[in-house]
Amino acid sequence: MVDLDHTRLPRHVAVIMDGNGRWAEQRGLSRLHGHRVGKESVRAIVEKSRELGIAYLSLFAFSTENWNRPPREVDGLMTLLRKYLASELGRMMRHGIRLLAVGSLRRLPPAVREALQASVAATRNNTGMTVTLAVSYGGREDITQAVRAIARRVKRGELDPARITEDVVEAHLGTHGVPDPDLLIRTSGEMRISNFFLWQLAYTEIYVTDTLWPDFREREYLQALAFYQQRQRRFGRTGAQVERERLHAV
Ligand code: IPE
Ligand code: IPE
Ligand code: MG
Repeated sequence: MVDLDHTRLPRHVAVIMDGNGRWAEQRGLSRLHGHRVGKESVRAIVEKSRELGIAYLSLFAFSTENWNRPPREVDGLMTLLRKYLASELGRMMRHGIRLLAVGSLRRLPPAVREALQASVAATRNNTGMTVTLAVSYGGREDITQAVRAIARRVKRGELDPARITEDVVEAHLGTHGVPDPDLLIRTSGEMRISNFFLWQLAYTEIYVTDTLWPDFREREYLQALAFYQQRQRRFGRTGAQVERERLHAV
């Protein structure tokens, strides 16, 4: 049993869902089979987050670099994404889940893009929890498109370069309005960010587990949350400062 302090849960959990391919290969199955089982982990983690009252959950589903995989795997993943959206819409509505999508959606096959946009539109007024799907997403690309948009505003004379603050940059990112993640989970043991939320992860606590994504279910999730609760978040200050503030807060 994992003991969680329900008053100190992260507001925003982000997940790099990795290891589907290896999970399948270890069993002599196709990589796509791994992605299909991984979809069940997505459902489990979304539901558990909702139950715990976690306000924001962000899932890295497909990176800009993943377009370089064999076309068959890319096609399979796109079909899976479309089916996932179709099968989950009812559940998202029932659970009050608002879906957001970040990434270069223009690169998606039209049927996938339309399904994504339809789910985002249908769930826009839900207030239970916000799930952000990062698809065709790259952190560098997100920052680059923000720079481009800001440059355009400067060129039009709408914005003085001296007034470009961190808040202005944030406002042009795909994730604007979503607070930075408190906890990043990466499955399958890789100690890297793989071009996920580069800006947004500046002060996020990082949890890496060897568990492969298809095996990452409620128990593993609770372990990650328990790890988070053991961290002292200092944001550059000293441990003594943080401790003093904590005592004053209660
Ligand atoms: C994560 O699993 C899913 C995607 C990147 C789409 P992988 O497909 O990367 O699985 P491994 O890392 O090859 O095991
Ligand atoms: C990161 O996993 C992207 C997603 C989980 C969607 P990858 O499997 O693509 O990462 P690398 O290439 O091993 O770093
Ligand atoms: Mg991988």
